[in-house]
Amino acid sequence: MRKGSVVLFTEALADLRTVGALVGSSRFLARAMAPRIAHSDPPKVIVELGVGTGNITREIIKRLRPQDLFVGIDANEEFVTICRQNIAPFVGKRRVHIAHGFAQDIDRMLKKHGAYEADEIICTLPFRVLPKKDTAAILKKVRSIIKSGGHFTFIRYVLAAPNKNVFDALDGFAVIKRTFVARNFPPAEVVKMRKT
Ligand SMILES: C[S@@+](CC[C@H](N)C(=O)[O-])C[C@H]1O[C@@H](n2cnc3c(N)ncnc32)[C@H](O)[C@@H]1O
Repeated sequence: MRKGSVVLFTEALADLRTVGALVGSSRFLARAMAPRIAHSDPPKVIVELGVGTGNITREIIKRLRPQDLFVGIDANEEFVTICRQNIAPFVGKRRVHIAHGFAQDIDRMLKKHGAYEADEIICTLPFRVLPKKDTAAILKKVRSIIKSGGHFTFIRYVLAAPNKNVFDALDGFAVIKRTFVARNFPPAEVVKMRKT
């Protein structure tokens, strides 16, 4: 087991309500969550909420071009340190910033890097177990910083009830794709929404 996996497991046992999963996402889930970026696309601002030890971050970063900006955030300082180490070999000249902090403050983090809107928000925050007021505050920020035509991608673990809070808070967003990923523990559905 890699160091990140052990730390994630240990932290999850200590605080499952914040970490939300006992193991990191599989590479199959990571690939399903990473945004598609075409060579001809204008520069993109991509945000990841809840980077953990970087399993999904790594897949996103591999796809970035030097003109794109990536800002990832996690509330757990140890995860942030491990994430930075895990992604270091893939960063190169890409504009990648991993911050320790709360997803509720993502607008302030973006401003620090000269960005006010995001094209893509990739999210593995455990909304079903986070306090309701935190979920509401985060989704309010998501709604305000995603560009019109931009995407919000999140996961639902199988057997978990559909997350009504997300759909209620993001009215005006349309579900454009659902991808079932069996090779993950637990299996998960990736839901991609577009801001109309
Ligand atoms: C289910 S884990 C996912 C980790 C990683 N993205 C992966 O897929 O392997 C959820 C992550 O969200 C983080 N988290 C929970 N609440 C948060 C908040 N309010 N702001 C930022 N990060 C948060 C946890 O520390 C944890 O790393």
